[in-house]
Amino acid sequence: MRALLAEIERVLPDGGEWCTVDKAHGLAALVLAFRPRITVEIGVWQGGSLIPMLLAMKHTGKGRAIAIDPWAHDASVADQTAPNAAWWGNVDHGAAYRKFLARLELHELLHLCTICHRSSDLCEPPSEIDLLHVDGNHGPQAATSNGSARACRSAGSSCSTISDGRAVTSSARTCAPPSSVFATSTRSAPGS
Ligand SMILES: C[S@@+](CC[C@H](N)C(=O)[O-])C[C@H]1O[C@@H](n2cnc3c(N)ncnc32)[C@H](O)[C@@H]1O
Repeated sequence: MRALLAEIERVLPDGGEWCTVDKAHGLAALVLAFRPRITVEIGVWQGGSLIPMLLAMKHTGKGRAIAIDPWAHDASVADQTAPNAAWWGNVDHGAAYRKFLARLELHELLHLCTICHRSSDLCEPPSEIDLLHVDGNHGPQAATSNGSARACRSAGSSCSTISDGRAVTSSARTCAPPSSVFATSTRSAPGS
């Protein structure tokens, strides 16, 4: 396990700055503890948080992930404050997607990941989700009423949901017990 955590820390900076080392280690620890068969992440970017979870899945030899992200300006700027919208409106989403693909290949994780290249409210969640990480658009509409809540409702009884801000409250309400809701934080848009 020590080698896995060290590898996660080593590869983390290549995925951008959204995910801290503590959060990456926490997510990997959940994979090691829960051994989820199906993990879903909403909001992937360059894989800052998903690559650590996938590395943990490779380590245990169990589980696969569904990566949901439209990698599109319009989805990212929806309902955002002006500084956040300005940042998300200018950043290269296509480059982030290509970077995520390259990292999947580099770390030999392609076979563990299915990509849904669409907004979360347009992706049909699988009937069972064991681990759900919500880190997409954190604006009011997206965080509370789109696919994150829908995905959580469809999650199996072993589901653990991790999300941010108001999505935690929303998910806590919509997840069927005995789901666990873990609160984590994501960094603010660099420009805000
Ligand atoms: C904060 S970043 C995710 C950071 C990533 N989890 C990490 O740790 O590096 C937010 C992501 O949400 C995505 N996003 C925006 N609107 C979305 C939506 N409606 N559904 C799914 N993802 C969305 C953006 O394209 C962006 O990749």
